[in-house]
Amino acid sequence: MRVAVIGTGYVGLVTGVVLADLGNDVICVDIDPHKVAMLKQGKSPIYEPGIEEMLVRGLRSNHLSISDSVAEATKASDIVFIAVGTPQSPDGAPDMKYVIAAATEIGRAVDHYVIVVNKSTVPVGSGTLVAETIAGQGVSADLFDIVSNPEFLREGSAIRDTLQPDRIVIGASNPIAAQRVSDLYATIDAPKIITDVNSAELIKYGSNSFLAMKISFINAISRICEACEADVSKVAEGMGADKRIGRPFLNAGLGWGGSCFPKDVAGMINIAAKFGYDFKLLKEVVAINDDQTLHFVDRIRRRLGGLKGKRIALMGLAFKPDTDDIRDAKSLVMIREILNEGGSVVAYDPIAAENVRQVFPDIEYANNTQELASGADALVLVTEWNEFRQIDLARLSRLLKQPLLFDGRRIYAKKVAEEAGFEYCCVGG
Ligand code: UDX
Repeated sequence: MRVAVIGTGYVGLVTGVVLADLGNDVICVDIDPHKVAMLKQGKSPIYEPGIEEMLVRGLRSNHLSISDSVAEATKASDIVFIAVGTPQSPDGAPDMKYVIAAATEIGRAVDHYVIVVNKSTVPVGSGTLVAETIAGQGVSADLFDIVSNPEFLREGSAIRDTLQPDRIVIGASNPIAAQRVSDLYATIDAPKIITDVNSAELIKYGSNSFLAMKISFINAISRICEACEADVSKVAEGMGADKRIGRPFLNAGLGWGGSCFPKDVAGMINIAAKFGYDFKLLKEVVAINDDQTLHFVDRIRRRLGGLKGKRIALMGLAFKPDTDDIRDAKSLVMIREILNEGGSVVAYDPIAAENVRQVFPDIEYANNTQELASGADALVLVTEWNEFRQIDLARLSRLLKQPLLFDGRRIYAKKVAEEAGFEYCCVGG
């Protein structure tokens, strides 16, 4: 099939390269000339395992091409995906300006029947908004259909999540259009949930909000565990063994961040309010999440007798491992808190340090964990990169001014850390 994908962010680029890899003829479009130039050379603007290999393979096989023209891509395609950003507005609602701009350009270019697929995370009613925008360019209703096909990929495992999804959600009012989009994924072995556009849009927000709620729930339990000396990992294991609950996304830690959960939970609260429902449960999910990091900083503060004049070493800065993404990363909150109180920060991350440097140019950046630990008052594990799991704790403990280890993601066993000479403190313990 001939496919255009507008927007080469996480969702758009992964969708584009995967659909090309499945044998479709795909044109990936972006308005950013720098990104277009990079992509044409087979370089990915985002860090994602496996993406560059697939990009190069697509370009070499001619199944994939890169363009800066929505019009050309629309004219050359049967299916046009809108995968542009929907950043959060000040009131929590997703900002639809890029979606509307893409739909307007598609509308101007349509010269044959096309299926326009919303892949961006968009609020309920966006299908209608996109349809009205295209129709507003004088396109007659029989020349296009709108389909919602939300994306559930995670950063760091985006290719695998796209090729092996738990489900594929397709919302459309025209069953023929739904079938055409479903056919794109024919070789992917996953249940296809075919529904109306509004339900598909709500599935995306409902799923991400529920997952965020699951994490906040176990983080709330972790607070009780700290008070009664229970083991939150065992509680999660015991709860998760119930198939109705499930073990994934019950890892207590510093809270959820990233580009999706914070934005989508805020979006869900906003959408609910627009439809007359006060989603108090989700507001509390956000409050628990915000409190989780601050509470951990408070434990460090109390143990050190204040943060003023203390040198705190942060291990990991990305919002989660295997990405350089620092959007809503808990490291940023911690750095701000420590600096505000007159402490100093030294930080290390395998790949996200440069991004943090843009926000905090004046903190110290270490080149490795030994440099990081040297002379620090406390070592704080913020992001659970695999390389930190294998670390020689005994060697590190000797480098610190005081051998204090605060484990924000519970990756070390207390006994092992203590045997290595550390005084160990973790979330939920
Ligand atoms: C998420 C959704 O998982 C994905 O389906 C959607 O398409 C985009 O948003 P992503 O933001 O890439 O994906 O990361 P994810 O792996 O879901 O983690 C989100 C946050 O939750 C991270 O900050 C992570 O550290 C935190 N998390 C996750 C926990 O604290 N505990 C857990 O058990 C799982």
